[in-house]
Amino acid sequence: MSQTGFLTYLCLFIACCVGYSEAFPSKLSQEAVNDRPVIGVLTQIVSDDVMKPFGRTYIPASYVKYLESGGSRVMPIRLTLTTAEYENIFKKINGLLFIGGAVDLETSDFARVAKIFYRLALMANDAGDFFPIWGTCMGLQLLTVLVAGESLLTDTLAENVALPLNLTTENCMNRITTLGVSIEAHSSRMFEGFPDKLMTALTQEPLTGNFHHFGVTVQNFQENKKLNSFFSLLSTNVAENGAHFISTIEGKRYPFYGVQWHPEVNRFQWDRKKNYPHSARAVQLSSLLAEFFVDEGRRSLHRFDNPEEEASSLIYSYTPVYAGNFTGYEQIYFF
Ligand SMILES: *[C@@H]1O[C@H](CO)[C@@H](O)[C@H](O)[C@H]1NC(C)=O
Ligand SMILES: *[C@@H]1O[C@H](CO)[C@@H](O)[C@H](O)[C@H]1NC(C)=O
Repeated sequence: MSQTGFLTYLCLFIACCVGYSEAFPSKLSQEAVNDRPVIGVLTQIVSDDVMKPFGRTYIPASYVKYLESGGSRVMPIRLTLTTAEYENIFKKINGLLFIGGAVDLETSDFARVAKIFYRLALMANDAGDFFPIWGTCMGLQLLTVLVAGESLLTDTLAENVALPLNLTTENCMNRITTLGVSIEAHSSRMFEGFPDKLMTALTQEPLTGNFHHFGVTVQNFQENKKLNSFFSLLSTNVAENGAHFISTIEGKRYPFYGVQWHPEVNRFQWDRKKNYPHSARAVQLSSLLAEFFVDEGRRSLHRFDNPEEEASSLIYSYTPVYAGNFTGYEQIYFF
């Protein structure tokens, strides 16, 4: 398969498919709190024929509900705007979530727009203007392409399977679990507020839904200086072919986060053919991560110029379509 074809099929099926350094943001923005955060979500081009009658681009409603559940509002961001328009949007939103799906991570409009925001976020954070980014599934893959400047993706098929996380044990062992296990993930920002019982369950119970064909192997991650200096590796998992792939990453210096699995499905997707984790612990995991990321958004002071501009930008004026009878999603927003 060509590189392009290969990338096009990153996450098939489902909308995949789902310590601060000293240099990092100024005290001022760390202390600031914005209790009306807005998280931007890039729309994705519709490729599935059954979805085409509804619109050219879409966002599964599960991602929107996920962000709303953490106390945020959502702004859908179209892929057809100019760089100047994206720069303007960047000044209004308080974070960005890259959703799962299946697009080319180097040549698509989605990738082009993501790169514009990624660069703006790097510059903003460098200047003390806190701006978080979260990538789920293909979103994580996209973050690795943006950071590495190349695609390191290979076959790491884990399709429709729920797994516990294999948390990493590298360094910073500053907390001991109830099992007496020290893990690096415990010193992460992402899992910082998690109860011990949940951390233990995370390593033992299948709380994370995987729906992907490609990913970054632990070996590729460790051998790539750009990636391993940018991100801490918090967890790994094993693909059907035996490859160990990175499953949770967190920026060392930047508030950028990636999960190869889908936290939003635990609470907001119900297709019976899919292995979505719906246990109480799985729901707690999903809730805490949504709250964590939205809380990162509260540290951004970007805002709209006026309430009218804000109202016309948010997702509330769109109505999701019932899609449970022709896709794996219950509801989808079309744009
Ligand atoms: C967890 O990851 C480590 C390092 O990649 C590996 O040696 C170990 O076999 C993995 N365990 C499981 C249960 O996947
Ligand atoms: C799905 O359900 C809706 C609402 O009941 C209906 O209007 C639509 O025709 C159905 N679509 C398909 C493809 O069955």
